[in-house]
Amino acid sequence: MKLLINTSYREKNCYKILNDIKENDDHMVSLAKKEIKRCMGCCECKKQALKNFCVIEDDMLEVYTNMAKFDKIVFACPIYMNFINGTTKNIIERLNTFYMHPEVIKNKSIYLIIIGEMSEEENKETVEMITKYFESLTEFMEFNFKFLGYLSSGIIEEIDDIEKNNANYQEIIERIKNKI
Ligand SMILES: Cc1cc2nc3c(=O)[nH]c(=O)nc-3n(C[C@H](O)[C@H](O)[C@H](O)COP(=O)(O)O)c2cc1C
Repeated sequence: MKLLINTSYREKNCYKILNDIKENDDHMVSLAKKEIKRCMGCCECKKQALKNFCVIEDDMLEVYTNMAKFDKIVFACPIYMNFINGTTKNIIERLNTFYMHPEVIKNKSIYLIIIGEMSEEENKETVEMITKYFESLTEFMEFNFKFLGYLSSGIIEEIDDIEKNNANYQEIIERIKNKI
Protein backbone atom coordinates (compact mmCIF):
# COMPACT_ATOMS: atom_id res chain seq x y z
CA MET A 1 0.00 0.00 0.00
CA LYS A 2 1.49 3.29 -1.02
CA LEU A 3 0.60 6.93 -1.49
CA LEU A 4 1.41 8.40 -4.90
CA ILE A 5 1.71 12.19 -5.17
CA ASN A 6 1.79 13.99 -8.52
CA THR A 7 3.28 17.43 -7.85
CA SER A 8 3.11 18.65 -11.45
CA TYR A 9 0.69 21.40 -12.47
CA ARG A 10 -0.46 19.09 -15.23
CA GLU A 11 -1.82 15.55 -15.29
CA LYS A 12 0.69 14.53 -17.89
CA ASN A 13 4.04 12.69 -17.54
CA CYS A 14 4.47 12.62 -13.74
CA TYR A 15 0.83 11.59 -13.42
CA LYS A 16 1.21 8.91 -16.09
CA ILE A 17 4.24 7.27 -14.49
CA LEU A 18 2.46 7.16 -11.12
CA ASN A 19 -0.61 5.60 -12.74
CA ASP A 20 1.63 3.02 -14.39
CA ILE A 21 3.26 1.96 -11.10
CA LYS A 22 -0.07 2.12 -9.20
CA GLU A 23 -1.26 -1.13 -7.67
CA ASN A 24 -4.66 -2.10 -6.21
CA ASP A 25 -4.35 -0.74 -2.68
CA ASP A 26 -2.43 2.40 -3.64
CA HIS A 27 -3.88 5.87 -3.42
CA MET A 28 -3.10 8.73 -5.79
CA VAL A 29 -3.22 12.41 -4.88
CA SER A 30 -2.78 14.62 -7.91
CA LEU A 31 -1.96 18.22 -7.05
CA ALA A 32 -2.42 19.50 -10.60
CA LYS A 33 -5.81 21.04 -9.86
CA LYS A 34 -5.38 21.53 -6.12
CA GLU A 35 -4.57 24.59 -4.12
CA ILE A 36 -1.35 24.37 -2.11
CA LYS A 37 -0.66 27.76 -0.59
CA ARG A 38 2.78 28.94 0.52
CA CYS A 39 3.95 28.60 4.11
CA MET A 40 3.46 32.08 5.58
CA GLY A 41 6.15 31.65 8.21
CA CYS A 42 3.76 32.20 11.16
CA CYS A 43 5.34 29.19 12.96
CA GLU A 44 2.04 28.40 14.75
CA CYS A 45 2.81 24.75 13.91
CA LYS A 46 6.08 24.98 15.85
CA LYS A 47 4.40 26.55 18.87
CA GLN A 48 1.51 24.08 19.24
CA ALA A 49 0.20 20.84 17.79
CA LEU A 50 -2.55 21.91 15.39
CA LYS A 51 -5.59 19.72 14.72
CA ASN A 52 -5.29 20.06 10.95
CA PHE A 53 -1.48 20.36 11.05
CA CYS A 54 -1.44 23.93 9.68
CA VAL A 55 -3.48 27.10 10.17
CA ILE A 56 -3.79 27.57 6.40
CA GLU A 57 -7.00 26.08 5.02
CA ASP A 58 -6.31 24.48 1.65
CA ASP A 59 -5.75 21.13 -0.06
CA MET A 60 -2.57 20.48 1.95
CA LEU A 61 -4.86 18.81 4.52
CA GLU A 62 -5.43 15.99 2.03
CA VAL A 63 -1.65 15.58 1.71
CA TYR A 64 -1.10 15.58 5.50
CA THR A 65 -3.90 13.08 6.24
CA ASN A 66 -2.76 10.71 3.51
CA MET A 67 0.88 10.99 4.58
CA ALA A 68 -0.27 9.96 8.04
CA LYS A 69 -2.11 6.93 6.61
CA PHE A 70 0.55 5.45 4.31
CA ASP A 71 4.06 4.22 5.19
CA LYS A 72 5.34 4.40 1.62
CA ILE A 73 5.02 7.74 -0.15
CA VAL A 74 6.09 8.21 -3.76
CA PHE A 75 6.53 11.70 -5.20
CA ALA A 76 6.75 12.26 -8.95
CA CYS A 77 8.14 15.77 -9.42
CA PRO A 78 8.93 17.76 -12.54
CA ILE A 79 12.07 19.80 -12.98
CA TYR A 80 11.34 23.49 -13.51
CA MET A 81 14.26 25.85 -14.06
CA ASN A 82 16.88 23.33 -12.95
CA PHE A 83 15.15 22.43 -9.68
CA ILE A 84 11.90 20.97 -8.33
CA ASN A 85 8.80 22.95 -9.27
CA GLY A 86 7.15 25.39 -6.88
CA THR A 87 4.38 23.06 -5.66
CA THR A 88 6.93 20.47 -4.56
CA LYS A 89 8.90 23.13 -2.70
CA ASN A 90 5.71 24.52 -1.12
CA ILE A 91 4.76 21.07 0.13
CA ILE A 92 8.18 20.54 1.67
CA GLU A 93 8.01 23.91 3.44
CA ARG A 94 4.53 23.07 4.74
CA LEU A 95 6.00 19.90 6.36
CA ASN A 96 7.40 22.23 9.02
CA THR A 97 4.42 21.12 11.15
CA PHE A 98 6.17 17.78 11.68
CA TYR A 99 8.26 19.38 14.40
CA MET A 100 5.08 19.04 16.49
CA HIS A 101 3.80 15.92 14.73
CA PRO A 102 7.03 13.97 14.09
CA GLU A 103 5.16 10.66 14.20
CA VAL A 104 3.46 11.48 10.89
CA ILE A 105 6.63 11.13 8.88
CA LYS A 106 9.27 9.56 11.15
CA ASN A 107 10.59 6.23 9.82
CA LYS A 108 8.32 6.36 6.76
CA SER A 109 9.79 5.74 3.32
CA ILE A 110 9.75 8.63 0.90
CA TYR A 111 10.51 7.77 -2.72
CA LEU A 112 11.23 10.22 -5.50
CA ILE A 113 10.87 10.06 -9.28
CA ILE A 114 12.19 13.10 -11.13
CA ILE A 115 10.96 14.06 -14.59
CA GLY A 116 12.32 16.68 -16.95
CA GLU A 117 12.47 17.34 -20.66
CA MET A 118 16.25 17.11 -21.04
CA SER A 119 18.25 13.87 -21.25
CA GLU A 120 19.49 12.06 -18.15
CA GLU A 121 23.05 13.13 -19.00
CA GLU A 122 22.06 16.79 -19.41
CA ASN A 123 20.18 16.77 -16.11
CA LYS A 124 22.84 14.83 -14.16
CA GLU A 125 23.86 17.77 -11.94
CA THR A 126 20.28 18.93 -11.38
CA VAL A 127 19.18 15.43 -10.37
CA GLU A 128 22.16 15.15 -7.99
CA MET A 129 21.28 18.51 -6.46
CA ILE A 130 17.61 17.52 -5.94
CA THR A 131 18.43 14.12 -4.45
CA LYS A 132 21.00 15.71 -2.12
CA TYR A 133 18.33 18.22 -1.09
CA PHE A 134 15.87 15.42 -0.21
CA GLU A 135 18.62 13.56 1.66
CA SER A 136 19.34 16.68 3.69
CA LEU A 137 15.69 16.78 4.81
CA THR A 138 15.97 13.31 6.37
CA GLU A 139 18.36 14.77 8.96
CA PHE A 140 15.57 16.58 10.76
CA MET A 141 12.42 14.82 9.57
CA GLU A 142 13.86 11.32 10.08
CA PHE A 143 12.15 9.63 7.15
CA ASN A 144 13.92 7.14 4.92
CA PHE A 145 14.64 8.43 1.44
CA LYS A 146 15.12 6.51 -1.79
CA PHE A 147 15.60 7.97 -5.26
CA LEU A 148 13.77 5.83 -7.83
CA GLY A 149 15.09 7.38 -11.01
CA TYR A 150 15.05 10.16 -13.58
CA LEU A 151 13.06 9.99 -16.79
CA SER A 152 13.01 12.38 -19.70
CA SER A 153 9.59 13.24 -21.12
CA GLY A 154 11.11 14.87 -24.20
CA ILE A 155 11.08 18.50 -25.30
CA ILE A 156 7.84 19.99 -24.03
CA GLU A 157 6.91 21.75 -27.29
CA GLU A 158 7.72 18.68 -29.40
CA ILE A 159 7.48 15.21 -27.83
CA ASP A 160 6.09 15.66 -24.30
CA ASP A 161 5.33 11.95 -23.93
CA ILE A 162 7.33 9.91 -21.45
CA GLU A 163 6.39 6.58 -23.01
CA LYS A 164 7.27 7.63 -26.58
CA ASN A 165 10.52 9.18 -25.39
CA ASN A 166 11.73 6.02 -23.61
CA ALA A 167 11.92 2.91 -25.80
CA ASN A 168 12.30 0.70 -22.70
CA TYR A 169 9.49 2.44 -20.78
CA GLN A 170 7.76 -0.79 -19.57
CA GLU A 171 11.10 -2.14 -18.31
CA ILE A 172 11.72 1.13 -16.42
CA ILE A 173 8.26 0.86 -14.82
CA GLU A 174 8.97 -2.69 -13.64
CA ARG A 175 12.39 -1.64 -12.29
CA ILE A 176 10.82 1.23 -10.34
CA LYS A 177 8.10 -1.06 -8.93
CA ASN A 178 10.77 -3.51 -7.73
CA LYS A 179 12.67 -0.75 -5.91
CA ILE A 180 9.69 0.20 -3.73
C1 LIG B 1 8.44 26.64 -16.87
C2 LIG B 1 9.07 25.31 -17.17
C3 LIG B 1 10.38 25.12 -16.83
C4 LIG B 1 11.01 23.89 -17.11
N1 LIG B 1 12.31 23.73 -16.79
C5 LIG B 1 12.94 22.56 -17.09
C6 LIG B 1 14.32 22.38 -16.77
O1 LIG B 1 14.99 23.23 -16.23
N2 LIG B 1 14.89 21.17 -17.11
C7 LIG B 1 14.16 20.15 -17.71
O2 LIG B 1 14.74 19.10 -17.98
N3 LIG B 1 12.86 20.31 -17.99
C8 LIG B 1 12.23 21.48 -17.70
N4 LIG B 1 10.89 21.64 -17.98
C9 LIG B 1 10.15 20.52 -18.61
C10 LIG B 1 9.32 19.71 -17.61
O3 LIG B 1 10.09 19.25 -16.52
C11 LIG B 1 8.73 18.50 -18.31
O4 LIG B 1 7.91 18.95 -19.35
C12 LIG B 1 7.96 17.56 -17.41
O5 LIG B 1 7.45 16.51 -18.20
C13 LIG B 1 6.81 18.26 -16.68
O6 LIG B 1 6.09 17.32 -15.93
P1 LIG B 1 4.57 16.91 -16.38
O7 LIG B 1 4.67 16.41 -17.78
O8 LIG B 1 4.14 15.87 -15.42
O9 LIG B 1 3.78 18.16 -16.27
C14 LIG B 1 10.26 22.84 -17.72
C15 LIG B 1 8.92 23.07 -18.04
C16 LIG B 1 8.32 24.27 -17.79
C17 LIG B 1 6.88 24.49 -18.15
